[in-house]
Amino acid sequence: KSIYLKDYKRPDFLIEKTELHFTLDPSETLVQSRLEIRRNPEANTPAASLVLHGQELELISLSIDGHALSSAGYDVGPEALTISTVPDEFVFEAVVKINPEGNTSLEGLYKSRTMYCTQCEAEGFRKITYYLDRPDVMSEFLTTIEASESDFPVLLSNGNLIASGEADSGKHFATWHDPFKKPAYLFALVAGTLDYVEDTFTTQSGRDITLRIFVESKDIDKCDHAMRSLKNAMRWDEEVYGLEYDLDIFMIVAVDDFNMGAMENKGLNIFNTSCVLAKPETTTDAGFQRVESVVAHEYFHNWSGNRVTCRDWFQLSLKEGFTVFRDSQFSADMNSQTVKRVEDVSVLRTLQFAEDGGPMAHPVRPPSFIEISNFYTLTVYEKGSEVVGMIHTLLGAENFRTGSDLYFSRHDGEAATIEDFVAAMEEASGRDLAQFTRWYSQAGTPRVVASDTYNEDSGTYTLTLAQSCPTTPEAKAEEKLPFHIPIAMGLLGDAGNLPIQLQGQPADPDTDDNTNIVLELTEPEQTFVFEGVTEKPTPVLLRGFSAPVKLHYDYSREQLTAIMSRDSDGFSRWDACQKLAVAVLEDVMQAYRGDQAYRVDPLLVAAYRAILIDTSLDKAMVALMLQLPTEAYLSEIATEIDVEAIHFARQYVRKHLAAALSAQLEAVYQASNEVVPFSVSASAIASRSLKNTVLSYLICTDTDENLQLAQQQLANATNMTDELSGLTAIINSELATDAQRKTALDEFYQRWSAEALVVNQWLVAQANVAREGGLERVMDLIQHEAFDIKNPNKVRSVIGAFCSGNPVNFHRQDGAGYEFLADQILVLNKLNPQIASRLLTPLTKWRKYDKGRQTLMCNALQRVLAEPALSKDVYEVVSKSLKD
Ligand code: ARG
Ligand code: ZN
Repeated sequence: KSIYLKDYKRPDFLIEKTELHFTLDPSETLVQSRLEIRRNPEANTPAASLVLHGQELELISLSIDGHALSSAGYDVGPEALTISTVPDEFVFEAVVKINPEGNTSLEGLYKSRTMYCTQCEAEGFRKITYYLDRPDVMSEFLTTIEASESDFPVLLSNGNLIASGEADSGKHFATWHDPFKKPAYLFALVAGTLDYVEDTFTTQSGRDITLRIFVESKDIDKCDHAMRSLKNAMRWDEEVYGLEYDLDIFMIVAVDDFNMGAMENKGLNIFNTSCVLAKPETTTDAGFQRVESVVAHEYFHNWSGNRVTCRDWFQLSLKEGFTVFRDSQFSADMNSQTVKRVEDVSVLRTLQFAEDGGPMAHPVRPPSFIEISNFYTLTVYEKGSEVVGMIHTLLGAENFRTGSDLYFSRHDGEAATIEDFVAAMEEASGRDLAQFTRWYSQAGTPRVVASDTYNEDSGTYTLTLAQSCPTTPEAKAEEKLPFHIPIAMGLLGDAGNLPIQLQGQPADPDTDDNTNIVLELTEPEQTFVFEGVTEKPTPVLLRGFSAPVKLHYDYSREQLTAIMSRDSDGFSRWDACQKLAVAVLEDVMQAYRGDQAYRVDPLLVAAYRAILIDTSLDKAMVALMLQLPTEAYLSEIATEIDVEAIHFARQYVRKHLAAALSAQLEAVYQASNEVVPFSVSASAIASRSLKNTVLSYLICTDTDENLQLAQQQLANATNMTDELSGLTAIINSELATDAQRKTALDEFYQRWSAEALVVNQWLVAQANVAREGGLERVMDLIQHEAFDIKNPNKVRSVIGAFCSGNPVNFHRQDGAGYEFLADQILVLNKLNPQIASRLLTPLTKWRKYDKGRQTLMCNALQRVLAEPALSKDVYEVVSKSLKD
């Protein structure tokens, strides 16, 4: 059953105050609630009866104003409790029993290893007790937790600890009060044997905040980076957004079993261990950066999400898009702007564009859903962030900040909508964003085609931009209205960027950079005339990836190498390099299909040689440029995905480059393989990134010494980035024997079997090996002692990594990969519907494959659909992807 945004109604009742009492027990936890409820004077159509959400609850007792209700007075259904008549204002009390140990969905209250924890977003609170589980019902919470003192010395909830002490028979209790009204999805509870690291932060107004990160004692040595990141994030939010933390204590808890990355519960963030724990020996550089960005993301939610929350779940991008934008700005400030932008755009163009082109495509604000958990998507998060970024580009940093100040002050303590956010931005800037808001309501990736002419005599350059947007499930291409698209651009001449003078616009004396301009494309087609252009220019379009669109311009390969080496924008230099590499890979794919001789354009070899020997370049950028477009990206841009041709072309070009550039690669490897004290500074990460990218090329050569290089790196590494790169090189190498590969894997496992997060990396590395027999290896892996289907990190590391990161093996011609995935989904459908539903993604893209694979993929989907007890989560994705 679908829920529609257009059906939104204000709540019939409000909950002024929420008092909860938990008596923790593995299978019989008692939850007593006392809710002060009153009719909402602003209800749309006041209802007589009170309907509370509730799922999988065993009702023990109910009362209204102290009077127990007889069974005639209420009705308990599988998803709701209905009380037929209630006064205008009353106290509702209930006692329910829940089973945390049996809760494998990891939604609501559940056990992770030895601790109790919660995950309530989006609709998990209803698995804890009867409630108005919707974000526009905000309440003050008082929470008491009672549990065995020896087993659960630490008892946490939101806000401030106001009482604690002994309870009956070896138990103790703690009472927490959260003074800020919040929706139930921000509720959290934790109980366990936990250690913590503590620090303090003094806010700009001089308040001292206690910061604590709680972990199992074995992980106490992995908290420093998260703590440093937290303090940086707190300072940054004050400086850049003027936003200060509000409670006296901020807590983070690390849990091993978690469906997503982390959760911004008020004052008590709960994190997947993978997004909070880090130390050099066990964590890769990517891992360190992920911790920094997720810690910041959850912290930033305290304002963009908690102080100002969402009216309903259709507005999810209001908090997620904005908060992703904020955490990206933060990470860029802490590290490298260009590197961060390239990483974000790669994810967007590979994964979000694929989502936009598939059956689950939806606007940044979806108009309907069956299960909201299915809409925590790349579109809502990443495209949502791009949309906020475009507002930032159109308004400029200063007006954007004024708009954000207005938004937070106007809606503090409220549940807001995307319109509220846009209205604040409009008022602050005086700009009309009406057309712009189509980015929130129209799905699909717009396509922009650029064409141009140059008139030498008049020195005018004419650029024409035409936009369109493909059909997506909610609207046909013809029905879509033009988007408001900011196109940052410049012109490149023989010696560098040219000054820009747009016809009919006065030269702007304020801008210190007259070689960059933001064109605003608002019509289906628009022409821009540049004057005083002294030579035929190469347009550099979409600098910094100023809009989430697919931009086509017919560049020659020489023009691409010119942009690569001379444009002022780092993102555009990288992008030109990618485009050149795509063209070269497409040559090889064509030859593969046509059975012709393979040729790798020497232009690419020369371009790579130039960046390898130019020591003035940022090593991180060199590494990113050397990395050929991934198979996933090549699949996304293909009309029909030719799994084998893509894989072959990439391997072929890599080998060719490795052979042609072996001297330069070896030199760079030796030069960057110096022993320096470990640091996660941008430059240290850049250096490792370049070294390991180079190693991945060296291992493609026929030289045995290069295998030894990888073995030495694996043996001598003092950090996980180098160690894992060594291992990955060996297990993917054709030079290594089966025995050598096995030894490397076994030794690594022996060394790290006690570190769950390292074991996860070891699983991913194996699941991704493209060599023949991948499916058999993965079937063995799920039998390994390290695998546990109830732990989402393990499922993602093996099944997720294999199905999306190993196309040649997953898309085996006989369809065995699809059957394997369907089998796993059917198991997970019962245990953890959210994870089951997410794993489906690769199968939903069936339309992009050849007829043979289409049939096999649909068969697998049909088999899932035939399961009688299908969860809403899985049902929605399977049924939508099979619909024509
Ligand atoms: N609000 C969290 C974040 O983005 C995500 C939690 C979503 N959880 C879920 N089960 N869908 O930081
Ligand atoms: Zn978030």
